[in-house]
Amino acid sequence: MGEVFSTTVRRVADGALSVGGCDVRDLAGAYGTPLYIVDEEDLRGRARAFREGFGAAFGRYGAEVDVYYASKALLSSKIARWMFEDDMCMDVASGGELEIALRGGMPPERIGLHGNNKSDAELRRALEAGVGRIIVDSMTEIETLNAIALELDLVAPVMVRITTGVHAGGHEYIATAHEDQKFGLSLASGAAFEALLECHDAAGLRLNGIHTHIGSQILSLDAFQESAERMLGLRAAFAADTGIWLDEVDLGGGFAIRYTPDDEELAPHRAAAGVADAVAAAVDKVGGPWPRFSIEPGRAIAGPAGMTLYRVGVVKHVALEDGGARQYVAVDGGMSDHMRTITYGASYTATVASRVSEAEPARSRVVGKHCESGDIVVKDVELPSDTSRGDLLAVPATGAYGRTMSNNYNALLRPAVVSVRDGEADVHIRRDTLEDLLSWDVAP
Ligand code: LLP
Repeated sequence: MGEVFSTTVRRVADGALSVGGCDVRDLAGAYGTPLYIVDEEDLRGRARAFREGFGAAFGRYGAEVDVYYASKALLSSKIARWMFEDDMCMDVASGGELEIALRGGMPPERIGLHGNNKSDAELRRALEAGVGRIIVDSMTEIETLNAIALELDLVAPVMVRITTGVHAGGHEYIATAHEDQKFGLSLASGAAFEALLECHDAAGLRLNGIHTHIGSQILSLDAFQESAERMLGLRAAFAADTGIWLDEVDLGGGFAIRYTPDDEELAPHRAAAGVADAVAAAVDKVGGPWPRFSIEPGRAIAGPAGMTLYRVGVVKHVALEDGGARQYVAVDGGMSDHMRTITYGASYTATVASRVSEAEPARSRVVGKHCESGDIVVKDVELPSDTSRGDLLAVPATGAYGRTMSNNYNALLRPAVVSVRDGEADVHIRRDTLEDLLSWDVAP
């Protein structure tokens, strides 16, 4: 099924798609559309590929590495359970994500808590639960967390989030280590160094290491190399000043995936070898003992494993100024379940999933049912010219930042998340109901 769909996707005998051994027509019938479908074998295979790939690549240098799944990409307590069973750690970025991870049975010591503006309640809960690391993001947080830890008579394990100045990845809004933005403490200005000293001196904190995340959808290993060099340079400077070599360095996530057949990916094994070699070169250059490393892939684990299934409603043919025509295929969801196209101008592809068509392909755009002309799911794709009401349409590579960024715009009901494997489907998140919607509204 091409390189964009997850590994178990096939066309069955009469031309419909199946995933994880389940016919998409049955899934649509059972769970409604739109529907987020997660290919369990694919997702867990990717998690394993990161863990084993990075384990082996760092192992060649006698070093150790932990893989934290960035749960903001896609989260359910059942996914947290998979991550636990597959020996992964998890990155959470709010109190809510933390609760879901804990509900799934992820041991707290394998959880890292992120966030540029954590509340007192979130910090307290994380400390009481015993999370393995809190990634502190500001001087204010360092003071606040220290005070809460002292009050609880606990010691908070912390890493400091560093803004290295390395700018990588796709859209400006998903690049995170350049200077002019809200995350982290700046390496260049000296704020990062100051924060390290502050954490080191704080009685309620145990400074474990440093963390950075340079952006998302990154293809270039050079960006990781630059980032590793700057991080290890900071670690060496801290050692020169205090005599302490920090134990841990986290290089974040951001490994690119394929959204369309034209895209390239940074596959786990290539990323592992590239990052390990880059880090080794940086350790050589900067000196000091190897720290324990960690990475935080989200999209590269969940993204390719997921697809969204829609039902086609209205099809229109619109004349274009260039003399051509565009087929507008409207589906029963849109920018409420699929935010990435309108937010980042992201590209996707789509295919008719309930049958094969012999009709000529037509220049098409997949749109939603919201009251906005920017409500686009797939901007440019060839779909059969006989695509019509009732057809199922599958959009691949929607596993990451699909459901987690969804909303109820126009009072639409958010789709269910269902995983499939060996012919069985399992509901992770049920579909919103009209009753849910009315229960959130307080009647006059
Ligand atoms: N670690 C940290 C600290 C992060 O902030 C992120 C993503 C990740 C790891 C995982 O990055 P990934 O491997 O998934 O690229 N909504 C945007 C992406 C925002 C990512 C924010 N942080 C999108 O849909 O592209």
